[in-house]
Amino acid sequence: MARVLVCPPTSFGVEYVINPWMTGNVGAVSARTARRQWDALVHILSARCEVSTIDPAPGLPDMCFVANGGFALGRAFVPATFAVSQRTPETALFHDWASAAGYDVVALEEDIPFEGEGDALWWPGQALLWAGYGVRSSLECHRTLAERLRVHVASLRLIDARFYHLDTCFVPLPDKRVIYYPAAFDLRSRRLVESLVPADRRIEVSDEDALHFACNAVRLGNTLICNHASPALRRRLADWGYEVIATPLDEFIKAGGAAKCLTLLLDQEVPAGFESRAAVRSPIRSQALEMDGHLLDKSVLPRAFELVAEAGGSARLERFRGGARADQTSHARLKVSAPEQPLLERIVQQLHDATPDIAVAVAGETGDATLSAVKQAGVAPDDFCCSTIYPTDVRVAGRWLRVGAQRMDAAIRVSVQAEEAIAACVLPRDLRPGDLVVRGENGVRVHVPETPHAGTDFGFMSAGVSSERRVENAVEELALEMRRIRARHGRTVVVAGPVVIHTGGGRHLADLVRDGYVQALLAGNALAVHDLEANLYGTSLGVDLVRGAAVRGGHRHHLRTINRIRAAGSIAAAVRSGLIGGGVMFECVRGEVPFELAGSIRDDGPLPETRMDLIEAQAAYARQLVGADLILMLATMLHAIGVGNMTPAGVRLVCVDINPAVVTKLADRGSVESTGIVTDVGLFLNLLAQRLR
Ligand code: ARG
Repeated sequence: MARVLVCPPTSFGVEYVINPWMTGNVGAVSARTARRQWDALVHILSARCEVSTIDPAPGLPDMCFVANGGFALGRAFVPATFAVSQRTPETALFHDWASAAGYDVVALEEDIPFEGEGDALWWPGQALLWAGYGVRSSLECHRTLAERLRVHVASLRLIDARFYHLDTCFVPLPDKRVIYYPAAFDLRSRRLVESLVPADRRIEVSDEDALHFACNAVRLGNTLICNHASPALRRRLADWGYEVIATPLDEFIKAGGAAKCLTLLLDQEVPAGFESRAAVRSPIRSQALEMDGHLLDKSVLPRAFELVAEAGGSARLERFRGGARADQTSHARLKVSAPEQPLLERIVQQLHDATPDIAVAVAGETGDATLSAVKQAGVAPDDFCCSTIYPTDVRVAGRWLRVGAQRMDAAIRVSVQAEEAIAACVLPRDLRPGDLVVRGENGVRVHVPETPHAGTDFGFMSAGVSSERRVENAVEELALEMRRIRARHGRTVVVAGPVVIHTGGGRHLADLVRDGYVQALLAGNALAVHDLEANLYGTSLGVDLVRGAAVRGGHRHHLRTINRIRAAGSIAAAVRSGLIGGGVMFECVRGEVPFELAGSIRDDGPLPETRMDLIEAQAAYARQLVGADLILMLATMLHAIGVGNMTPAGVRLVCVDINPAVVTKLADRGSVESTGIVTDVGLFLNLLAQRLR
């Protein structure tokens, strides 16, 4: 049985104006009508759930809107911290009620506004909290809610003062459904809703319904209780199996509230299997800015607040010291928050640009990066800053420089070129005496992307082996991408292991090379050896590629192959002389597609082109990877991981391997741009070549 909390409207009235609905209604409420309407609502609720009450307090005319008193989830209750001073005394009353009712009370910082369930709606059956900000509740409280309650929060920004609380324009329903009024939200928020809720599970209500508080609805089982719903809305809800009970609440609408505002849900739970989740990382980011200058002139501060809000962020004045005389400057510390890092960076930049006469500095910034000169060739200072695959900035002489040639496990070298300081990743072994290298973490910022939302389908490796359907879908998508890359003369780099040849994928890979889908091939000695062997003898490591059985004496084929290529002088020469008439290497030579073969300790031969100097081989790989749009890693753990280390985040990686461990290893990059497909690489290439034909 569901449980809700209500508060009798004995003190209810409109005594001040804190939202547009209250304008013109001060003193205009009929206590009797309000009571009658409230009783009718509670009558409907009582027939469907257990109703508890909190005692109203004199002098708090809005307390009947209990939804704003706090938010209950499982055993936790988070009392509101009101944005409006008129309602601040309610916090203590809800706090006391919750602890008496046995909740673990989770108190938020006093100065971070959070108006309870009015701006925090749990998505039943999902592990997600929809939270509103922009009018009353702050964006900052979303981050605290996420961390304290260990839940994911989807932050929606409200942009219409009439829809000042999320529960006036948004109803999350079970089965991944929502009812909402899109015009109440900014573009980013609408996109977020669209990305989290499938189109056939969203009902967009009309202006008429929205303005009559249709979205201010209480759901109990398959019943929705609200002030009003148009026949059209009722029909759509009936299709979803909901019955709508409309009960007039216009006396409360004079204060800006209706059914949902008058009800607080008490039995919300995190679905089983989600509650033990480790800490949740909220994507919300904040940055404190120190502002110095004539802040009181030309309303610099109010303009700054406006700019931040309009850009979708939220700002708080943490400190202010005004100049005492007209010619003195003022100082302010402004904390700016945004739903995610890139937006925060854009907002900070806009603030800089909009206040040219004001010094805006990032607070707490450690100043410039520490640089030290290299003393010994090929050796970095002991505490050198070790690079990652993520975009990185270093601060030099007060300016942030984006690090170039981003890769993992390198040092960051700062040098001056054409009077400009530049920063780039350099392997420690390539450092020369006198090079300036970043030490420690001061003045370094790394832009690590947030982990994807829990429950979203991440790549393909979740189940180990990908189902046929999923492989087909992945190939379909990949083919589309490869066509696009070819059309715009982009770069696809293939990293492949010999299994490609053993599994019969060689001819399909050869087709891709021939048709211009591959701009560089990175492999070891073996891929080339077996590809050439297949061409000369029809076998791969002695196994007949057509019959799939070992050929008598076939174990000698690959050595014979190497021997014949060495006799010809090189793979390229063997192709030109007509010795090799097909296959992957043949197509590379013919189409002038560069290939780099990196040697290893187990190599036979090696082939003349195989680079046995590993440092050279790494450098050769790295050269081919510059500007790659897509890297296709085919059944090779060694070379794929090597390539992964050299590749900055942001490059699309597709890793195909029969061994889930290899695929997972690459997906560890945590980036959405990597896809892992666990399947037989020969079958995969066959499918891909078919799709690209
Ligand atoms: N007059 C109240 C206020 O402005 C109404 C609150 C409505 N509550 C809600 N959850 N939308 O605070």
